[in-house]
Amino acid sequence: MDAAEVSDWEGPAWSQVLAAAAGDNAAAGRAGALWAIYGPLLAPCEDRPFVIGQIGQSLDGRVATASGHSHDINGPCGLTHLHRLRALADAVVVGVGTALADDPQLNVRHTGGESPARVVIDPRGRLPADAKCLRDDGVRRLVLRCTDTPMARGIESVALPHDDGVIAPETVLDALYARGFRRILIEGGPQTLSRFVAGGLIDRLHIIIAPMIIGAGPTGLQLPPILRLDAAIRPRMRVFRLPGDDILCDCDLRP
Ligand SMILES: NC(=O)c1ccc[n+]([C@@H]2O[C@H](COP(=O)([O-])OP(=O)(O)OC[C@H]3O[C@@H](n4cnc5c(N)ncnc54)[C@H](OP(=O)(O)O)[C@@H]3O)[C@@H](O)[C@H]2O)c1
Repeated sequence: MDAAEVSDWEGPAWSQVLAAAAGDNAAAGRAGALWAIYGPLLAPCEDRPFVIGQIGQSLDGRVATASGHSHDINGPCGLTHLHRLRALADAVVVGVGTALADDPQLNVRHTGGESPARVVIDPRGRLPADAKCLRDDGVRRLVLRCTDTPMARGIESVALPHDDGVIAPETVLDALYARGFRRILIEGGPQTLSRFVAGGLIDRLHIIIAPMIIGAGPTGLQLPPILRLDAAIRPRMRVFRLPGDDILCDCDLRP
């Protein structure tokens, strides 16, 4: 499979993608090569959420070292791409493991566009009150938990049904959809994303591969084992060579 070069990465094309996302249909035609990457993420989502997953990984599929060091596997364009995914989403979701390991801001800083709502799945209340993603910058902040525990003013604590501490990913999506979020980015980490992939709930999975071999450490997906390769997920896939060294694999996981 050939990797398509992305020629107008830094130009005005991204503004056209944002304009198209805001409803300007003519802007799609002006978004150039970027439309091939981002246009499919703007599919209509009137009756159900459109769910995007992302993984930034090494050639050997790892998202961090064995000690948990993960900054930065991808180069500057991979980081810009992650922020573009955030900018196209209504809500970005991480597991509490990522919030504790990386203390991410989960906002849009490396590209144009607005920051989405921030959602942390934190069933047992491990997220510290001073986590950066909880800071008040005018964006909605939600914490999904197993029990209804009051949180600081302005943070929405959402108690969800669970099975022994595990919230079904469908329940997460239903809760977000009911609160008005239509386009949802599951940013990670592996445990969180894997549940959505295993549940067949990701529409589009973007895997950004850096030319690096880490050799040990967590992998981006951990799915239930299969016995035979004919049970493997075989997505329709397109490949883009981002400026710099990163390769983007855009996997269409819809049935
Ligand atoms: N390279 C990348 O693209 C990328 C992206 C994000 C993160 N990361 C890396 O990934 C690592 C963290 O990932 P991780 O897999 O350990 O953690 P994670 O997926 O961020 O968080 C997992 C935790 O979140 C809670 N959780 C998530 N989904 C849940 C559900 N459906 N029901 C109940 N609880 C749920 C659980 O919390 P409890 O344990 O409290 O039950 C679970 O242990 C870090 O090293 C980070 O740097 C890499």
